This record gives sequence, C-alpha cells and structure tokens, in this order.
Amino acid sequence: MILVTGGAGFIGANFILDWLRLHDEPVLNLDKLTYAGNLASLAGLQGDGRHVFVRGDIGDRGLVARLLAEYRPRAILNFAAESHVDRSIHGPEDFIQTNVVGTFHLLETARAYWAGLSGGERDAFRFLHVSTDEVYGSLGPHDAPFTETTPYAPNSPYSASKAASGHLVRASHHTYGLPTLTTNCSNNYGPFQFPEKLIPLMILNALQGKPLPVYGDGLNVRDWLYVTDHCAAIRAVLACGRTGETYNVGGWNEMPNIEIVHTVCALLDDMRPDPRGPRARLIAHVPDRPGHDRRYAIDAGRIHRELGWKPAETFGSGIRKTVKWYLEHAAWTDQVTSGGYREWMSLNYAERQA
Ligand code: NAD
Ligand code: TYD
Repeated sequence: MILVTGGAGFIGANFILDWLRLHDEPVLNLDKLTYAGNLASLAGLQGDGRHVFVRGDIGDRGLVARLLAEYRPRAILNFAAESHVDRSIHGPEDFIQTNVVGTFHLLETARAYWAGLSGGERDAFRFLHVSTDEVYGSLGPHDAPFTETTPYAPNSPYSASKAASGHLVRASHHTYGLPTLTTNCSNNYGPFQFPEKLIPLMILNALQGKPLPVYGDGLNVRDWLYVTDHCAAIRAVLACGRTGETYNVGGWNEMPNIEIVHTVCALLDDMRPDPRGPRARLIAHVPDRPGHDRRYAIDAGRIHRELGWKPAETFGSGIRKTVKWYLEHAAWTDQVTSGGYREWMSLNYAERQA
C-alpha cells in the first residue's frame, strides 16, 4: 500500500479518489483534520476497505513509526501542509510547525523505516514530497518560467516554510540516500477546494451576491492547473521519477486574477443566471496582500520530456467542470463554510474594506 499524508485536503482527497479509481492498491491516509481537512470529500469511499483513515499529525513520530511498522507502505506521499498564503501572513507559526518541523519528523521516521527494509523493498521505497512553484519567488513580466534549477527565493511565510521543507527533503536524499522525489506544482483548482482560495471563494461569493474581493489591481499572474492533472503528474513521478530529482508541474496556462474572476462570473451567469444582473457587477478591488508575488510561471518541460506527462484539461474545460461541481455540491460547501470559516472571512476581509 501507499501512505498519503493530508489526504483529507483538497489535492490529497482528489489524489486518493483517482488512485482508487485506477488501482486496487490500498491507501493509508494520515491527516490531522485541521480546518482544511474534510472527510466529507472522501464520503464516496465509505465502506471501501482499500482506504484506511487515521487521524494524526505527520510530526508525531511514535504514531507514524507504528503505522509504518503495521502497514509497511512502499511509498509515502507527503501532501500534508498548511497551504494558504493569507493565513500564513496572519499566523505563520502553524506553517513552521507542520511544513518545516512536521516534514522533518516525517522524513526522520521514514528514514528509520526505510533503513530497516531489505532487498527489493528497500530499492523500491519512495518518499514523494508535494511542493509548490511559490518556493521560486516572483517573476517579472518578461522573465522565463521557473525551471527545476531556478534558485529558491520564497517571499511569504507559506512559501518560505515549503522551501525549508523542500531543502530538508533534498538533504535527506543527499546525505542519507533516502529515495526522495519532489514535485513543484502551480496553482490547482477543481472539486473539493476549500473556499478560502481564489476560485472557490469567487464562485461561492458570486452565488450569494457578495462582493468579489480582487487584491490590488488584479493583474497578478498565476499558472492554473486542474487538480486531476496534478494527481496524474504525481502518479507519473512516483512510478518513473528519478530519485533525488525535482519535477515542475504546470498547466502552461498563465492568467491574471481579474481574468479568472471574469471567467467565473461569465460561467455562473450562463449556468445560473442572476435576475439582479451580471455577476461582474460584484467585483471589488480591495487593498493588496502584503508582499503579494506578481507572477508565477512554470516550465513543465522536464516532466513532459522524461515522463510523458502533460495536462489533459484545458483551462476552459477545467474551469467549466469546477463551476458545475460547486453548483451541484451545495451540501459540501454548506458544511465547510460554517463556524470557523466565517471567522476567517471577517479576519481576512474586514480590514480590506476599501
Ligand atoms: P489543503 O490545505 O487543502 O489540505 C492540507 C491537508 O493537510 C488537510 O487535510 C489538513 O488537515 C492536513 N494537515 C495539515 N497539517 C497536518 C499535519 N500536521 N499532519 C497531518 N495532516 C495535516 O492543501 P492542498 O491545497 O490540498 O495542498 C496539498 C499540498 O500540495 C500542500 O503540501 C501544498 O503545499 C501543495 N500544493 C498546493 C497547491 C494548490 O494550489 N493548492 C499547489 C501546489 C502545491
Ligand atoms: P490563492 O488562491 O490564495 O493562491 P496563491 O496565493 O497560493 O497563489 O490566490 C490566488 C491569487 O488570487 C493570488 O494572486 C491572490 C489572489 N486573491 C485575490 O485577489 N482575492 C482573494 O480573495 C484571494 C483569496 C486571492
């Protein structure tokens, strides 16, 4: 079996659902169930013996060592993280605890387990670390996209914590020979994304007739990738990636935020017209995010050349599926937007009132 950490989050849940659609190999899912973890995303696996869920922290060495000894996974895929830049600005400490300290403990526990394996099991073992393009910092409008050799230059507490964990993964390979793989992916979107991130936040606010808060001039550029394409890239790297290497994953799809928001508005107007008028009327430019990276762009040439991966979805097809999914899954969104979500919305957006 494989061990997935953070499998109740956005990408981890999509990964597990896809994995079990494609394979019979069981998944052990270790997740702390922070505000971002949601077992409702995995409700489709209820009663499926191939999915074993354990609530716990990647930094709990005793628990992880027991799980490794009991389940003997052939790979660990580390999705678990604090993942939201705005939250890292308001409260960086959790990011250091999970992304840096937690990953360090997980690596150490994995190393002890791997050292105890023998022969074929030891050769086949992999530790795959899921990381982000944000570790490379911000690009100017005419700079070439990030490659795997672009130096790390993180600018937010989130990206700094992911850069730190990436360095620890690299060191575990270089120093101890742990068979690691790292992926650095661009912005994901799709089903089950917590509505603190740009696309689901805009969908839900627009449906409720609330303002659509665009930070600054809205011309910050991100590269957007549909989540199941990211999952396919991770499967390809796990199967055929060279240990110790990094693979950049992206959609070849750079877009300014304001264009994303207009696209979401137009799709909603088409799929669920609002008698009060076009949703774009709700767009509100609000004070910028501190230290807001201007542009990210990923050169995903290596993973294409070496592993044959390329995205299956265009932005047009992926965003349409995403908007449709949120329209059809009101129960999921109602559940995740209760309680703590409202507190976060007032903390992050009250001070941004123009
Ligand atoms: P998410 O915030 O939706 O989910 C994170 C999950 O990790 C949650 O289920 C949470 O409960 C769990 N978790 C947090 N701390 C934990 C801990 N200490 N121990 C165990 N579980 C813990 O994040 P996501 O968007 O699914 O991102 C997953 C990974 O992919 C992260 O490592 C992130 O840095 C990376 N990534 C995300 C994107 C993106 O656009 N979302 C892009 C590139 C890379
Ligand atoms: P986000 O989804 O938080 O991802 P990241 O910061 O990791 O790229 O934000 C994507 C872009 O959208 C980023 O440039 C910030 C911007 N943004 C807004 O303009 N308004 C919002 O309410 C949010 C959450 C993000």
